[in-house]
Amino acid sequence: MTTNAKEPRSRLDPEPVPRRDWLGLSSLWAMGGALLFGLAGMLKLPKAAVLASPSKKFRVAIPENLPVGEAFVPPGRAVAVFKDTDGVYAVSTICTHLGCVVKPNAEGFECPCHGSKFAVNGDVKKGPAPRPLPWLKVTNNGGQLTIDEGTTVPNGTKVA
Ligand code: FES
Repeated sequence: MTTNAKEPRSRLDPEPVPRRDWLGLSSLWAMGGALLFGLAGMLKLPKAAVLASPSKKFRVAIPENLPVGEAFVPPGRAVAVFKDTDGVYAVSTICTHLGCVVKPNAEGFECPCHGSKFAVNGDVKKGPAPRPLPWLKVTNNGGQLTIDEGTTVPNGTKVA
């Protein structure tokens, strides 16, 4: 005698998943993965991909005992600050030839790239630099000096 009723299968021997169902489940998992991947990408979008550059304006405290004619170079800046009897002034240390950073020395500045030499006031003493080093805007707010690397002033402009 045969029975038509299906016998319950054991948990250790599950019914095989038909091929069509397996393909459907796989595509569902693939769609879910793609959706999560896209969401993760969209969440990352609002973050800026570039870092902001430091401000061109910065405060500087020059040493009290800075000798006349000696440069003070604030750390991380391409600026040399000088103090004399007429006041304070700032000279850019970006060479006017091809943009290397010039190094201060006893006579002024020297460019390590092609050998241009500049006086303490930025005038060209030896080429190939075509122009003097530009002077930068310095403001004095009650003893607090602020230098603006983005603004040049006529050479000879000093702040008391
Ligand atoms: S970059 Fe300074 S001399 Fe050429």
